Amino acid sequence: MIKKIAVLGAGTMGHGIAEAFAMYGYEVNLYEEDKNRRNVVKYEIEDELKILAEEELITSEEIQLILDRIVLYSELEEAVKDRDYVIEAVPEIIELKQKIFKMLDEFCPKHTILATNTSSLKLDEIMKHVSKDRKKRVMINHWYNPAHLMPIAELSFFGNVDEAVYKEVEELYKSIGKQTVKVLKDVPGLVANRIQQAVAREVFSLIEMGVAAPEDIDKALKFGPAFRYATTGQLEIADFGGLDIWCIVGDNLLKVMDNSKCANPLLRQKVKEGKLGLKSGEGFYKYNDSEVNEIKKKYTRKLIHQLKASKFYI
Ligand SMILES: NC(=O)c1ccc[n+]([C@@H]2O[C@H](COP(=O)([O-])OP(=O)(O)OC[C@H]3O[C@@H](n4cnc5c(N)ncnc54)[C@H](O)[C@@H]3O)[C@@H](O)[C@H]2O)c1
Repeated sequence: MIKKIAVLGAGTMGHGIAEAFAMYGYEVNLYEEDKNRRNVVKYEIEDELKILAEEELITSEEIQLILDRIVLYSELEEAVKDRDYVIEAVPEIIELKQKIFKMLDEFCPKHTILATNTSSLKLDEIMKHVSKDRKKRVMINHWYNPAHLMPIAELSFFGNVDEAVYKEVEELYKSIGKQTVKVLKDVPGLVANRIQQAVAREVFSLIEMGVAAPEDIDKALKFGPAFRYATTGQLEIADFGGLDIWCIVGDNLLKVMDNSKCANPLLRQKVKEGKLGLKSGEGFYKYNDSEVNEIKKKYTRKLIHQLKASKFYI
């Protein structure tokens, strides 16, 4: 049974992963090589926990207890040497991940299960320098951002791990309230990101063609398909609507929809102009510096409300 956890990298994902485990009582070693990041990360986690307390998902007394369960490390070996489960969330660079997994293989006890939060790299490549025995205990465990709130965890079951290892990890994720998705093939993007990219491709194409204003396209998604998606999956929706109807509409619409194999030209143009979204003050919408924090908080609160509502239908 997994009890002791290490998370590697305290960036966007790593800090949230550590926070999620600590919220459910796990002792977490958080390894981060950047000193500046180590200095601020606990304050960032504390701010996120305060919002959870305001929204009554945790009590304010729990905040310090959760923070105390996360111990920061600057030495990899120290962070992982007695752990049952280690997940890395370092930058998406194959050579870096390969190097880290080789070291983990050396530093961790034999029973330790190793995981990567990669969004796009192949598991086979990541564990290239890992010993044969350890390969039976390595998985992709893919989280969504913000990790402490988004309920999904995609877990690989590609043939290198047996059912017992998979179950152990699945139990771990269930114990922290995640909805697990068993992914059977090592395809880039796994399941959720591929679905998201398919939707995004059409959304970017619609805005590029000038079919509707940004607010209206987002509204169409939020109050149309996505309104259903929060409670009902696409395959359920297809069954409810009738597969014959989905066949006819698919034949009519798919031939006129975007089928491009790379990022949308409008998106690329915006990136070229430095319009990167919230972080640069303009993307598809414009943002004042003064409102950025408020927008981020509002987004977080909406996710929390969604999470609370989801308790009724999970
Ligand atoms: N950002 C997302 O939305 C998202 C979602 C799912 C998965 N992922 C995946 O998670 C991983 C991390 O992404 P992120 O967005 O958190 O990146 P990030 O850049 O925000 O964080 C990476 C952290 O790792 C640290 N780091 C770099 N080299 C290190 C090393 N050798 N040892 C320890 N720490 C090191 C960095 O200082 C940084 O704090 C990537 O594989 C990414 O593809 C990201």
